Amino acid sequence: MKKELTWPERIQNYVKETGFPENIFMGEDDRVVGTWIMGNDYRVKSSYYGGYPPTYLRRIKALFPDKSNALHIFSGKVDLNIFPGDTVDIKSELNPTYVDDAQSLESVPLENYDLVLADPPYSVEDCEHYGTTMIKRNKVMRALQRLNSGSHIVWLDQVLPMYRKDQFTVEATIGMWKSTNHRFRGITIFRKL
Ligand SMILES: C[S@@+](CC[C@H](N)C(=O)[O-])C[C@H]1O[C@@H](n2cnc3c(N)ncnc32)[C@H](O)[C@@H]1O
Repeated sequence: MKKELTWPERIQNYVKETGFPENIFMGEDDRVVGTWIMGNDYRVKSSYYGGYPPTYLRRIKALFPDKSNALHIFSGKVDLNIFPGDTVDIKSELNPTYVDDAQSLESVPLENYDLVLADPPYSVEDCEHYGTTMIKRNKVMRALQRLNSGSHIVWLDQVLPMYRKDQFTVEATIGMWKSTNHRFRGITIFRKL
């Protein structure tokens, strides 16, 4: 297992590997805060509705060089060339590693993964694009309690999901602006206790 990085080391690696300005910082409360402005390149390479904005995966990858096994939940058409890992989606036609409901993750051996990237649908209206029903975020967080201690979850959403404070701690909150006429989103990074 690789040695776990500290947050100052993660931020240093982010700046070094992406070349983006240092725009996330250690707060005095020991939490990382910041804002990413993704710029006006709003093309999603896969053209999948709700796909990660360009550079998102590269930024997250640079924050976690110490992780060896990533799991993408609500994976859609995530670009695995940029961020290799296994995938979970409820839609079998997307050919994920696991066709499963993220609210239970019954078929997923969560103990094998040290990093989870979650990109849930934000609303009922968004779900209509996927032909799925709206999720209960707290159920997903409950399913993720099976992760090993020290694993991280990177959750991109418009809502902070309900979670148990004796199971997870929030280590970072990053605001994300995409471009004009796009919704503002937030990235919450949890660590499993
Ligand atoms: C915002 S999209 C993810 C897009 C992805 N980040 C990308 O870059 O392509 C949300 C995905 O969640 C999936 N989904 C919806 N409900 C789900 C559930 N209960 N369990 C697992 N996946 C679900 C949808 O099929 C859709 O692919």
